[in-house]
Amino acid sequence: MPDNIQVELLNDAFNVFRDASHRLEQQYALLEQKIEDLNEEIAEKNRAMERNRRLAAMGEMAAKIAHEIRNPLGSMAIFATLLERELTAEPDKRKFAEHITKGVKTLDNLLSNMLLFASNPGTRLKQVDLRDVIEDAISMTIGHEKQGVRIKTSFEGSTLVMADQAQLRQLFLNLILNSLDALDEDGILTIKIRASEDDQSMIQVEIKDNGRGIPSDCLDRIFDPFFSTKERGTGLGLAIVSTVVSAHEGFIDVSSEHGKGTKFIISLPVAGPEKRFC
Ligand SMILES: Nc1ncnc2c1ncn2[C@@H]1O[C@H](COP(=O)(O)OP(=O)(O)O)[C@@H](O)[C@H]1O
Ligand SMILES: [Mg+2]
Repeated sequence: MPDNIQVELLNDAFNVFRDASHRLEQQYALLEQKIEDLNEEIAEKNRAMERNRRLAAMGEMAAKIAHEIRNPLGSMAIFATLLERELTAEPDKRKFAEHITKGVKTLDNLLSNMLLFASNPGTRLKQVDLRDVIEDAISMTIGHEKQGVRIKTSFEGSTLVMADQAQLRQLFLNLILNSLDALDEDGILTIKIRASEDDQSMIQVEIKDNGRGIPSDCLDRIFDPFFSTKERGTGLGLAIVSTVVSAHEGFIDVSSEHGKGTKFIISLPVAGPEKRFC
């Protein structure tokens, strides 16, 4: 083979080798970058796992503390009520006892929400009359009443659902307290129970107030845990509402007009006859 052909072949081979080596270098750099990204991803996942572990531990601790606080709080509520009765003839002093009762109720509500939020207790379903639940929830708002605010109720048709009574009470208490917070003097809160028009297997509870309403840019955040527009709000109320409704295979419809009022409709499955004795 002539020398010049050999040189050309060698040149070609060298060029092929140089291109291949260049491509390999590029691929190596890409791989290195990918490994770096993956390492960063693993580190972030580890951090998230650690955060979740801590949150779970905190949730457990919060649930334990909430249980511990509950007992002395129960005694305080009983003694404050006794004190209120003792002081019937002295309205000025009675007011102090009423303040204690109100404070205890607020704390009790906060603890119930925390327990439901932190410990996901599962639902214990039995046949429940929604009238009793709503009446219980209304009675638990004593101390939170507002001057001149009226609560109107209307119950139509069957009011029986399969539900966890304590969780439903907390659900409606949260909705009613939110309405009371939003209402000004002489406002009206209406609570209706009725069969759903579209779906006979569902019962609807409508909670409607003519209070300050929810601005449209807040509406899609109100169910987020810890979202609150109140100075001392926890933002747990509606998160619990949403969790409890889902656990009961129900759904929520909310509409609100800023400055005019808010309407929540909670739909829950009617208690079926086959489940009557569960
Ligand atoms: N009936 C209502 N009227 C006006 N705003 C409401 C009503 N219900 C809920 N909201 C808004 O939704 C937010 C979240 O409610 P919630 O989860 O119960 O937390 P919190 O009551 O502690 O603020 C409230 O801070 C308020 O801005
Ligand atoms: Mg609330």
